[in-house]
Amino acid sequence: MLFGFFLISVMPKKEILHLQVDANERLRADLHLLRMRRTDGQPMPPMPAGNFVQVRPPQNATTLNRPISVCDCYADNLELLVRRAGAGTDAMCDAQSGTMITVIGPMGNTFSTTATAPLLVGGGVGIAPIFALAKAYAGKGICPEVVFGERTAPAQQIVTKLEKVARVHICTDDGSEGFHGLVTDSPAWNGSFDMVHTCGPLPMMKAVAAKAAAAGISCEVSLENRMACGIGACLCCVEDTTDGRRCVCTHGPVFNTKELTW
Ligand SMILES: Cc1cc2nc3c(=O)[nH]c(=O)nc-3n(C[C@H](O)[C@H](O)[C@H](O)COP(=O)(O)OP(=O)(O)OC[C@H]3O[C@@H](n4cnc5c(N)ncnc54)[C@H](O)[C@@H]3O)c2cc1C
Ligand code: FES
Repeated sequence: MLFGFFLISVMPKKEILHLQVDANERLRADLHLLRMRRTDGQPMPPMPAGNFVQVRPPQNATTLNRPISVCDCYADNLELLVRRAGAGTDAMCDAQSGTMITVIGPMGNTFSTTATAPLLVGGGVGIAPIFALAKAYAGKGICPEVVFGERTAPAQQIVTKLEKVARVHICTDDGSEGFHGLVTDSPAWNGSFDMVHTCGPLPMMKAVAAKAAAAGISCEVSLENRMACGIGACLCCVEDTTDGRRCVCTHGPVFNTKELTW
């Protein structure tokens, strides 16, 4: 009970934001970059790397809101990278410029940014919070190494964004660009690192965490468990931790792997 009060007191204040779609860029058939602007003249609340927002899909396409990571956040703009997975994300990807979208945020905790030599590993749409983290490190004068894994050549727009804030190592399953193979086999791992941060498909994150553990490097993962309420009430997102079962929506989504019972 006390822990719950503690969490609520340290969690960032959530706002209900009515945002207007300024641009919806189709990067691939199943991947869109949505840029949305606050129109009430107020600044965006701070949304540090790791935070996510609960998006009300346009046209009320789903009953529940959908969690989407903060990819980029400016004074009055929010950028989300959205992969089509079903009705909710389809409605986001189909939103025309000018559409109003309601989001609640910021939600969840954040990545740490205390490392001096960080290795960031993103897989698929998991590159969204990894971009936000790379930008945060760049803001502190650190150019992180980013390993970006995709099935096939990644969208150039994302690579261009990443290259402004990081040294980027692309890995593809089909060898169409960069290193032909898994993110855990990337030559980028030959560097010397004091922290690994990762987000992507669960098997990839587990493999990255195992590799980091074998090298004695601390590792943070951003989990994408299915969510419903987003506020710690329905318990549908729980994850087993060394401290008992924890809601990913309020205690996470970022966990140090030493907290997890994988
Ligand atoms: C903290 C967090 C951050 C996320 N960030 C992003 C992001 O930046 N961009 C993005 O495109 N997606 C992100 N997701 C995943 C996204 O929330 C789901 O893809 C979305 O909720 C699916 O809703 P839907 O209505 O489109 O599809 P549904 O019809 O609800 O589901 C379609 C399919 O997607 C699967 N699915 C649903 N939720 C998830 C999930 N959380 N993880 C994996 N598979 C899921 C279902 O099992 C089903 O097979 C994130 C999820 C979490 C929890
Ligand atoms: S989504 Fe309901 S408790 Fe996390």
